[in-house]
Amino acid sequence: MSETTTTTPTSTTDIDVPRPTDGDVLERILQDHRLFEDLLRLARRNDTDRASARQALAEVLVAHARSEEEKVYPTLRKDRAISEHEEEHGEEEHAEIIEALLAFLQVEDTEGQEYDDALEDLATVVNHHSNEEEQTIINPSREDVSVEERERLGAAWLARRSELLDQGCATTEQVAALLDEAVDEGTLAPEGAREKAEAIKAEAKEKAKEVEEAAKLD
Ligand SMILES: [Fe+2]
Ligand SMILES: [Fe+2]
Ligand SMILES: [Fe+2]
Repeated sequence: MSETTTTTPTSTTDIDVPRPTDGDVLERILQDHRLFEDLLRLARRNDTDRASARQALAEVLVAHARSEEEKVYPTLRKDRAISEHEEEHGEEEHAEIIEALLAFLQVEDTEGQEYDDALEDLATVVNHHSNEEEQTIINPSREDVSVEERERLGAAWLARRSELLDQGCATTEQVAALLDEAVDEGTLAPEGAREKAEAIKAEAKEKAKEVEEAAKLD
């Protein structure tokens, strides 16, 4: 393995995140989902400035999700393109992304196994959410929301996104505060409860496996 580099995450990054100002909101969101994939890949490479890639990814993830919750989801609900359940599930997944992002930002050694594991966990929740959002929120909105409304929403969403990017919205402290907020608001269950739920799920899975194995033997 290469020499160990220790970096403390800061809000600075050399990577320029694009800041378009107009366009169809649905297409602009899809573009950002591709940007997440590009930045995840960049953060994964062993010949890049990983700290910089990680910080750019953090900034765009937070700016994207917060402006979706503030500007996009409420309008799509009002237009009946999505239901309350879809909006809430989207917000829950944003909170899961924030949680995985915080763990990723807290890793000090960008060359170690801990970094790789935290990146993999983050990639899993980000990819799950992008996929689900595209299927259950973007697709119905393409049918139910007029082009004019989508353009108007695009400008509003992008303005808020740029504002957050310009301010800097994803230092470790800022992401930790967002996570606290999500737990306080009940969007995300407290850590202890989630751990318990995970343990119950793991146990059930184990039992199911045993039943399956026993059936094979019959
Ligand atoms: Fe999104
Ligand atoms: Fe989202
Ligand atoms: Fe989901």
